[in-house]
Amino acid sequence: MPLSEHFIGMHKVEKPCAKCVFCFGWISVNRSLLAKKIRWCAVSDPEQKKCAELAKALVAVLSPAAVAAFAKLSCIRASSTTDCIDRIRANRADIVTLDAGEVYSAVKQFGLVVVAKETYSDGACVLSVAVVRNNSLGIRSLRGLRSCHSGVRWTAGWSLPLGFLLSRNYLNWSQERPLSRDVSAFFSASCIPGARAMAPSLCALCQGQKSYVRQRNYHCETSHNEPFYNSQGALRCLRSGTGDVAFVDHLALESIKATDDYRLLCTDGTQAPLSQYRHCNLGRGPGGGVVTRFSLRKIARKFLVTVQMLFGKRGRETKRFQLFNSSSYGQNDLLFKDLTNKLAVLPDDTDVSQLLGLDYVALLKGLGHEGRSLDDSVVRWCCISHAEMKKCELWALSIKSDPLVCVRAVSIRNCIEKIKRDEVDAVSLDATHTFFAGKCGLVPVVTEYYGTECEAADRSTHWEADVLPSVVGVAVAKRSSKKILMGNLKGGRSCHGHLYSPAGWLLPHRHTLTPEHNSSIPCDPNQAYSEVFWKGCLPGSDGNLCKVCMGGSEEAATKRCADNHNERYYGNMGALRCVVGDPSGKSYGDVAFLEQHNLKANILSLSSTGWAEGWMPSDFELLCSDGRRAPLSEWESCNLGVIPPNTVMTRPVLTARVYDFLIKSQETFAANSDAEFKLFESLQYGESDLLFKDATQCFVHTSHMDYRAILGDEFYIHAETVFNCTHSDILDFCNQDICSVL
Ligand SMILES: *[C@@H]1O[C@H](CO)[C@@H](O)[C@H](O)[C@H]1NC(C)=O
Ligand SMILES: *[C@@H]1O[C@H](CO)[C@@H](O)[C@H](O)[C@H]1NC(C)=O
Ligand SMILES: *[C@@H]1O[C@H](CO)[C@@H](O)[C@H](O)[C@H]1NC(C)=O
Ligand SMILES: *[C@@H]1O[C@H](CO)[C@@H](O)[C@H](O)[C@H]1NC(C)=O
Ligand SMILES: *[C@@H]1O[C@H](CO)[C@@H](O)[C@H](O)[C@H]1NC(C)=O
Repeated sequence: MPLSEHFIGMHKVEKPCAKCVFCFGWISVNRSLLAKKIRWCAVSDPEQKKCAELAKALVAVLSPAAVAAFAKLSCIRASSTTDCIDRIRANRADIVTLDAGEVYSAVKQFGLVVVAKETYSDGACVLSVAVVRNNSLGIRSLRGLRSCHSGVRWTAGWSLPLGFLLSRNYLNWSQERPLSRDVSAFFSASCIPGARAMAPSLCALCQGQKSYVRQRNYHCETSHNEPFYNSQGALRCLRSGTGDVAFVDHLALESIKATDDYRLLCTDGTQAPLSQYRHCNLGRGPGGGVVTRFSLRKIARKFLVTVQMLFGKRGRETKRFQLFNSSSYGQNDLLFKDLTNKLAVLPDDTDVSQLLGLDYVALLKGLGHEGRSLDDSVVRWCCISHAEMKKCELWALSIKSDPLVCVRAVSIRNCIEKIKRDEVDAVSLDATHTFFAGKCGLVPVVTEYYGTECEAADRSTHWEADVLPSVVGVAVAKRSSKKILMGNLKGGRSCHGHLYSPAGWLLPHRHTLTPEHNSSIPCDPNQAYSEVFWKGCLPGSDGNLCKVCMGGSEEAATKRCADNHNERYYGNMGALRCVVGDPSGKSYGDVAFLEQHNLKANILSLSSTGWAEGWMPSDFELLCSDGRRAPLSEWESCNLGVIPPNTVMTRPVLTARVYDFLIKSQETFAANSDAEFKLFESLQYGESDLLFKDATQCFVHTSHMDYRAILGDEFYIHAETVFNCTHSDILDFCNQDICSVL
């Protein structure tokens, strides 16, 4: 190989090349890079002092060569964390630790990179807590109080508490103006370091020195020179009587836990002692992270690994210097939080949403961290099929509220993922998927109401029902196929609404399907069905349980077994078509597991939806769990179990907006009962239960409820039992935990 080519290879591609001479040249280039001094950005004199001690300690314990190679530290004095970000961008400082909310801005808006995150004794996250001294205050009565916050846009002092207050509608955000305006109207006065440019009242309680010279102004700055800066400062603000409530992270409680003067405000309106912070908090989010410029990321990591090895919790040289201890400098949390256990140094390709978590990133977007955009007033609804898109687009044309945008996903589980990723906002979910979404951190907005009486005639008022009517799951066979009975289904062909559907997947498996399964039912329903049935159609699964499926054609073209209505045998209508069989007579099932509601209407509409002619309800029978058969009308005594109603779920910060949108929508249609578009009808699109169940009469307000309460204990425990032994990708996705320390 000619030398020149080799040379290019090394410098452009940077391949490791053990045998070649020029490598030495490369290493020395690398070395000179490493020899660069690291400039830590300090926001106060005590922090500057601690940094200088660290620099001295490095020189004292490392060989001169090692210091020269990668551990030469200098300290740059800045006036605030924002000043630090500016300086690092401008190559006038190199590295700083920031709260996760600031990390997000530093990365997304200013192009910096995160190289490490702080981890604490109980994980890498912080809990946001609201601390008070007055025992007559509650989380619902914060309006008009004086508030102290760790910092603006900080996780525990701003994003989590405001996200919580918005999700409960305790705080009104008009959305036409920045959130900070409504926050300043909500509290009578505050100290929120970093908020000076937003509104004067947000800094009214702060006590730092004021000056027109930027470097000498400490008032309301994110610097220890502002006495009420960070969680410790916010507690000082509370302790001094300046504020009535302090929003801080749970780590700060350590410093006040010895006194009985303080209480936490819980989300249910009660108060609790400080020790109860795990149960009484406003949410959990990522802790601090260390940021630098992209070009310095490698050397910064190396530096952090070294100082931690020497001066971390179990460092070799902690007698000389302690990285996570600020007590000698008269302040808390200098350079790092004092309760840091360890810095987790991050791999090169760490994405910021991976690091901070999808929930947190979606929350920050929801709070307008990236500025406002037109999208903010739009509600994006998740649709899973051609038919749902058609219905949704008509819905969008017919409403007189915020604009609706219809977004296509491939399955209901994909909708949950898209909501988490902030690609879509809301969807109505069956009970099993409500369970998934709840595990995923989404929250209820409204629940579909199947009763006959919707309280408010005009459907515009806020309504909470005492009882949420359920639906039941049934097994249906053609009357003519007499041998098909529950308990005797071995080798049969089955039709199931779709994978994880309550009636099609979750319930049947609880019953005796074959004599062999009398004593030992496999715990995983997928396994039970593939052992019992010869073949079937369970949209969303694979193998033999896809063989009876049909797929879709034309505009709704899809391959067989797709997990949406494009598959002709998907859902309640689909399972019915499946047991009727296709016109060619090739693809049919012996038994269909589906929901009882609207069954007769679906049978009578088979021909109008372009399927089979002439079927009547009397052509079908129910299979009871005791082996009897019964006419369809006897569903109350012959069913496979009750199913909690469908619920609209969204990200917490959007609940008030989605609720408002749905109620306005419902009001428009109720006011105009002969309007062409009907929210709760689907047959005109040739399907059933598009976007909402056709049995829905109106929406019930459930934003104040936990998803577990909506599902009920019996269903919840059943679902949990099944998913404790059944793998599902969606729960893997939902269980990704940014808080665990790896
Ligand atoms: C406690 O809060 C209540 C309600 O805001 C107020 O009326 C009362 O004066 C407060 N008590 C003290 C000691 O601040
Ligand atoms: C929030 O705003 C709505 C109207 O936008 C108003 O009816 C309601 O009273 C407000 N709530 C509070 C607590 O101010
Ligand atoms: C922090 O340092 C002080 C003084 O050097 C020492 O007394 C204290 O025990 C240290 N704290 C911890 C948690 O190690
Ligand atoms: C199930 O087994 C029990 C005893 O093991 C027996 O009494 C019962 O009849 C069986 N049921 C069915 C449906 O085979
Ligand atoms: C499911 O597993 C979890 C974790 O092992 C356990 O805490 C829970 O009690 C189990 N639930 C049921 C219903 O078995």
